[in-house]
Amino acid sequence: EKGGFDYFMLKEIAEQPQAIADTLLGRLTEHGEIRLDEVRLTDQDLRDVDKIFIVACGTSYHAGLVAKYAIEHWTRIPCEVELASEFRYRDPVLDRSTLVVAISQSGETMDTLMALRHAKDQKARVLAICNTNGSTIPRESDAVLYTHGGPEIAVASTKAFLTQVVACYLIGLHLAQVRGIKYADEVGAVVAQLQEMPDKLRALLDRMDPVRALARDLASAGTVLFIGRHVGYPVALEGALKLKELAYMHAEGFAAGELKHGPISLIDHGTPVVCVVPSPAGRGMLHDKIVSNIQEVRARGARTIVIAEDGDEAVLPYADHVISVPRTPTLLAPLVTTVPLQVLACEIAAARGHDVDQPRNLAKSVTVE
Ligand code: F6R
Repeated sequence: EKGGFDYFMLKEIAEQPQAIADTLLGRLTEHGEIRLDEVRLTDQDLRDVDKIFIVACGTSYHAGLVAKYAIEHWTRIPCEVELASEFRYRDPVLDRSTLVVAISQSGETMDTLMALRHAKDQKARVLAICNTNGSTIPRESDAVLYTHGGPEIAVASTKAFLTQVVACYLIGLHLAQVRGIKYADEVGAVVAQLQEMPDKLRALLDRMDPVRALARDLASAGTVLFIGRHVGYPVALEGALKLKELAYMHAEGFAAGELKHGPISLIDHGTPVVCVVPSPAGRGMLHDKIVSNIQEVRARGARTIVIAEDGDEAVLPYADHVISVPRTPTLLAPLVTTVPLQVLACEIAAARGHDVDQPRNLAKSVTVE
């Protein structure tokens, strides 16, 4: 049943190209349009939206953090992302023109369910992104966009995360098209890039051997830090979460720019720091800024593990290990940069002798608040 893999988690990591293809299936037209007929919110409903809240927990929350960058860029609608367990206890400002997007693989997470009930009580419209047909969260939502990831058995979420991110992109692009805003002309190009993603991921998965070797090497580390900027920041958080939950190691993700405001003191001789680097072709100074962050941590003794695009030579002088990933535009990069971090956490946990699919103290669906 594990299809020749040692763990369900490895099987599910390997299924990611197909999971993304299935999540895109039937939702993109040849003319670069997004068709989300199943969402059952009228175009007028979508034009009326003036604020978006994304609520979710754990890895699904990280998918929401990635989504914020894309949705705000494409739609110009303000978008907040909040942990579901915090959202309803702080009196958020919600009304009829607020769209609340609840992201949940299982569709049964109690914190997320309570957040969506609170949003509905305040008359907000609720759209669920969910992987489980007929589960409670989509049943109680006004609309649903299913991720077609297939069943996820391993407790640690992998293919669900990637498909949630894809579903969020589809919603952002659809909103941009319906509202006809300035960035709508980018939509066609992004659609083409999304369609290439399954092949890109297949190629990426074929070159994970160096990650496995590195994992054996890192298995005895006391702490592992992860840094990123922009969409690389939620990827860093996700890499750290996977390592905590599977390997029971201390791991933390930081926005790279925050290092100098405190966390850089953690860096000691040999501390592994995983650095998530955006495309050098991207807008602005993002790439240069993170290269200087890598330099800074290395100067303080860190052992740098750099996730960078193929052909990115600027990182080489400061990288103890380079894990290269296929070239991808900045906003879509989490779909590729997350994958080596999933493999890394899985292999470190296995090297430490842990049950990768059933980490201690955790359940696949968390139905208590
Ligand atoms: C981490 C993980 C959890 C879930 C979280 C939300 O690998 O799996 O953090 O992402 O419990 O679960 P769902 O998406 O089912 O609401």
